[in-house]
Amino acid sequence: MQISEFIQQLPKVELHLHIEGTLEPEMKFTLAERNGIELPHKSAAEVRASYDFTDLSSFLTAYYDGMSVLRTAEDFYDLALAYLRKAAGQNVRYAGIFFDPQAHTSRGVTFDTVISGLRRAQLQAEQQLGIRSALIMCFLRDFQAEYAMATLLESLPYKQWIIGVGLDSDETGNPPAKFAAVYARARQEGYLLTMHCDVDIENSAEHIRQAVEDIGVARIDHGTNVIENPELVEVLVERGLGLTSCPISNTWVSDGSKVGLVKELVGRGVKVCVNSDDPAYFGGYIADNFQLVADEGQVDNSFLAQLSRNAVDISWAPLALKAELRAEIDALFK
Ligand code: ADE
Ligand code: ZN
Repeated sequence: MQISEFIQQLPKVELHLHIEGTLEPEMKFTLAERNGIELPHKSAAEVRASYDFTDLSSFLTAYYDGMSVLRTAEDFYDLALAYLRKAAGQNVRYAGIFFDPQAHTSRGVTFDTVISGLRRAQLQAEQQLGIRSALIMCFLRDFQAEYAMATLLESLPYKQWIIGVGLDSDETGNPPAKFAAVYARARQEGYLLTMHCDVDIENSAEHIRQAVEDIGVARIDHGTNVIENPELVEVLVERGLGLTSCPISNTWVSDGSKVGLVKELVGRGVKVCVNSDDPAYFGGYIADNFQLVADEGQVDNSFLAQLSRNAVDISWAPLALKAELRAEIDALFK
């Protein structure tokens, strides 16, 4: 079987996907028109041509600018349904979906507007496309910890719709420790915990140490700089604490895809998986990320299947679904 066909058939779990990062330029124009917003660019092609990120911060400028067209619950519904359709088409069976409420509440869009639109799309996609999903609420780390805490409190009436919390946005100067009290409260409220430790940030390895040892997260988003601390690599292995890596994203915000590190860490027993991060901005959904691992890493189908098993293992999907997916992945080799 061709590797691209194997990737398509492989049952997949996506754990690092920002729903706002799935806003394709075409949809940006549709929503701008519906909401009476004038855009500075004339066409989707022009928007795409303007993407020229050299680091996390230059990407984030485009990312926050893009989402200004998201205003109504219907906008969030359309956005999420479009992603879930694409993901289901690539045989993603379960997605942990990040959303950034503060990027919306800070510009006057209510928490209820955001989450009710996303929720409606999740329910419809599960019923009609068979793709399961769960929402992970991210705090913006370049805002004050007090605002994150207020957002956590605001989320409580919607607790049944949110499986866990994450931390994203500009990491430089915004270490995990800044959010220790917010994470302690989130844990108390029953949320599961993850956070970004982006690639090649100042003090990346120390941020990973704080996330694991001081905050006690269940997994880390990106996090491949753990390679700089072999003892911490051992801790990840012992605790089954996984990393959600995003190869195509890495090529835009750092130097290279880090596929070599993914291979090295998987070889040492770390549960690393592959994800698409912000596919509308970085130009590739999950299958494209698997393909990049195959092309650059020169790995075989069994390695790609291992990445998918790792995603199942470290996901917060229902246990019955996890068992089903493991059996389906194994069956590909029969
Ligand atoms: N927000 C959206 N994508 C992100 C990423 N990869 N890192 C940090 N913040 C983000
Ligand atoms: Zn991310």
